[in-house]
Amino acid sequence: MIDNSPILPEVAVIGLGKIGLTLAAVFANNGYKVYGADKNKDVVNQVNAGKSHITNEPGLNQLVLQAHDNQMLFATDSNIEAVSKAKIIVVIVPVFVDENHAIDYQFIDAAVQDIGKGIQKDSLVIFETTLPPGDTKERFGKEIERQSGLGMGEDFYLAYSPERVYSNRIIEDLKNYPKVIGGVNEKSLELASDFYKQALNCELMKVSSLETAEFSKVAECVYRDVNIALANELAQFAEQKDIHISEVISASNSQPYSHIHAPGIGVGGHCIPIYPYFFINRGLNEGLTPLSRKINDSMADYALSKIENRIDTLRNKNVLILGLSYRGNVKEPTQSTTLLLIDQLRDKQANVFVNDPHFSNSEIIQFGALPLSLNNKFISEVDAIILQAFHKEYESLTFKDFKKCKLVFDGRNKWKEEEITKLGIQYEGIG
Ligand SMILES: NC(=O)c1ccc[n+]([C@@H]2O[C@H](COP(=O)([O-])OP(=O)(O)OC[C@H]3O[C@@H](n4cnc5c(N)ncnc54)[C@H](O)[C@@H]3O)[C@@H](O)[C@H]2O)c1
Repeated sequence: MIDNSPILPEVAVIGLGKIGLTLAAVFANNGYKVYGADKNKDVVNQVNAGKSHITNEPGLNQLVLQAHDNQMLFATDSNIEAVSKAKIIVVIVPVFVDENHAIDYQFIDAAVQDIGKGIQKDSLVIFETTLPPGDTKERFGKEIERQSGLGMGEDFYLAYSPERVYSNRIIEDLKNYPKVIGGVNEKSLELASDFYKQALNCELMKVSSLETAEFSKVAECVYRDVNIALANELAQFAEQKDIHISEVISASNSQPYSHIHAPGIGVGGHCIPIYPYFFINRGLNEGLTPLSRKINDSMADYALSKIENRIDTLRNKNVLILGLSYRGNVKEPTQSTTLLLIDQLRDKQANVFVNDPHFSNSEIIQFGALPLSLNNKFISEVDAIILQAFHKEYESLTFKDFKKCKLVFDGRNKWKEEEITKLGIQYEGIG
């Protein structure tokens, strides 16, 4: 039988992290031969053995194994090697902000230099990493030109398509969210659109420029940060009026134009608390965007002052934080509010304990806290509990073994106040 299926170009995926490995495995299972590159040799070895180093992403192990068995997915620690074998190059190496909120490009800059060294003429380079608007063309396109001697839009094509997925459901989100795509010129946009149509089989949303596509992803994050800040402000005001904010939000959001988010003890993760600085550092340094960052970062402090109001000093008190991850049911400590809480509690000379079923004891110790299992007898000595990330293990937590506990601070408004107060423990939440 003659095989009439089109011959698809080889793809390089640069950065085989949580997102990059998932993309590589999905592309490879949709007919593309994929060369994944990562500077971490362990990652490379595992992928070449058909294993995913990301263990908590539903469906990913199976996709990586299938792609490996079908000889469609190969990994290397040389970006140049992967790029030189491919006609389509997808970049998903992170950009961070440092402790002063300055943008830290070191990882992606190194990757882009390699791309410039390995790129073949007529290749398409697509950036998926979240970026400040303008960077795809001005910082990276120009660097590829410098390294390769090729002309952007003529000798190689350049597109930007933001990654918008959510941990723990990346494979589903890749199918379900429209893929926003911008190109440096019409040909780049068309090539990138053709690729995603085949490689992801999802809805496409073409926009008029690279910068529009870049802006749209940062704007999504700013929208959520500002909305959470509004919820936090309303929660604090509702407290003054002796009104429960959760009930208010359910009532308000029953009107279809109201989408008030949930207030809480802080905003973490590698998107919402970071990407607003991509605007703030580029001129949006007044108004709602920086103010919202301030409000959301002040919530940990606000929570601790409420705890101090209830139990007097935190000095020498045993405080247990539930959840090291920034949110429930993921293993993800980036910018977690628990890190802020650990620092502030230590400054106040409290004894800081952390429980998180997703982390080992030694991992918790590395973050400067003492691990405490919920089966450990020492829980009877805990003076205060702070709920930071609502893992499913905490849904059925009974507080009866916390014999000396004076206060539960429900930082995510998840528990029932009456069930806690009936044990003689005080309850506080946000709003
Ligand atoms: N994780 C998410 O939920 C999420 C959601 C939306 C968008 N994003 C975007 O995806 C990007 C990547 O996120 P992630 O979760 O996959 O990150 P990650 O930290 O899991 O993985 C990044 C990988 O890049 C590799 N790397 C670093 N420098 C390199 C280099 N010079 N060459 C080759 N490899 C290099 C690292 O070794 C690591 O394996 C984020 O920065 C963000 O822009 C992530």
